[in-house]
Amino acid sequence: MVKIGSAALKFLPLVGLLALAACSGRTSNTDAANERFSAAEGCTNVGILLPESDSSARYEAYDRPLLEQEIKAAIPDVTIQYANANNNATTQQNQAEAALTKGACILVVDPNDSEQAAVIVQSAKASGVPVIAYDRLIQDPDLAYYVSFDNKRVGELQGEYIAEQLQEGNYGLQEGANIAMINGSQTDNNALLFREGAIEKIQPLVDDGDLNLVFDQYTPNWDNNRAQSLMEGVLTKESNDIQIAYVANDGMANTVIAALRAQNLNGQVLVTGQDATLTGIQNILTGDQAMTVYKPIIEEARATAQLVAALHRGEDPGSLVNGETEVTGGTMIPSVLATPIAVDINNVEDTVIKDGYLKLEDICNGLPAGAGGICPE
Ligand code: BGC
Repeated sequence: MVKIGSAALKFLPLVGLLALAACSGRTSNTDAANERFSAAEGCTNVGILLPESDSSARYEAYDRPLLEQEIKAAIPDVTIQYANANNNATTQQNQAEAALTKGACILVVDPNDSEQAAVIVQSAKASGVPVIAYDRLIQDPDLAYYVSFDNKRVGELQGEYIAEQLQEGNYGLQEGANIAMINGSQTDNNALLFREGAIEKIQPLVDDGDLNLVFDQYTPNWDNNRAQSLMEGVLTKESNDIQIAYVANDGMANTVIAALRAQNLNGQVLVTGQDATLTGIQNILTGDQAMTVYKPIIEEARATAQLVAALHRGEDPGSLVNGETEVTGGTMIPSVLATPIAVDINNVEDTVIKDGYLKLEDICNGLPAGAGGICPE
């Protein structure tokens, strides 16, 4: 993924822009969204398609309600058609067809499979309907917009955390510590970016002999149970000699912790995560998980709603867009990318609790008194 700030692009003279396009073989979609998508202007029927609800609690708890809330606030008379693909790309294609048949004129799609969802973009395009890829990229040049977090940065935050803890000798970490990487689903473009960001920080340590990478695999469908069996296999193979479990999200981290607990190793192994889910934060407070990455989903939902509203009004999204994302084939998709935040035991209060993303009473419910130094005694 290559990102170019829209501010930087604005100041390039036209000749420069043309030259840039010619040199890189890329075309830009920035100006043309409203012209290409004839069905969007005046549209009051929006389809929202989300990918799953097994691995991450985020979709039904945050994404769906926040998207609906923000889109309704922007277009009061809107009808929303919602569907969750339950981790099945074919189901999602059928859900998209159903939404289009029922008159959806703008689609917001968080793809189950970043490549297969191109079929949805093409089918929508045939009816002049724009698709906004939400959170996960769709590899298609006709995508209207992409809204997400800086996903490579998510991986960097996870990798940086591991590097810092190693440097400080926390978790009893020493030179030559064994690390296992349990990545997300290979068909989710985000999972590739999370790993890319993390490995950028981890590989130099491996090259210097500071870390020993003993396992590095993707987990189909971000399946939590599968992550647990992967971890069990690693523990068996390495005779429990594992000091770091890089785990891509909190759902999988929770089952990895179960595998560690079965060997009485929970709390001794540095486990990473992502999403700042209730369970993830509870695992941080009990000391079983070291860190997570908090992504304030309201920012994603609001940016998406603003783009939907701009399409509805037939307006250019202007300064909303803060970058471009390259899809396979070289087309640059105008994008809004928000900033992820690393969270560990030291900043739970200043981040997720302060933002109202999670309530302290919910987090502390079921935890020992005084857990993490922030639950009531
Ligand atoms: C999302 C993560 C989520 C994962 C599993 C990724 O694309 O960015 O927040 O945990 O999918 O659903």
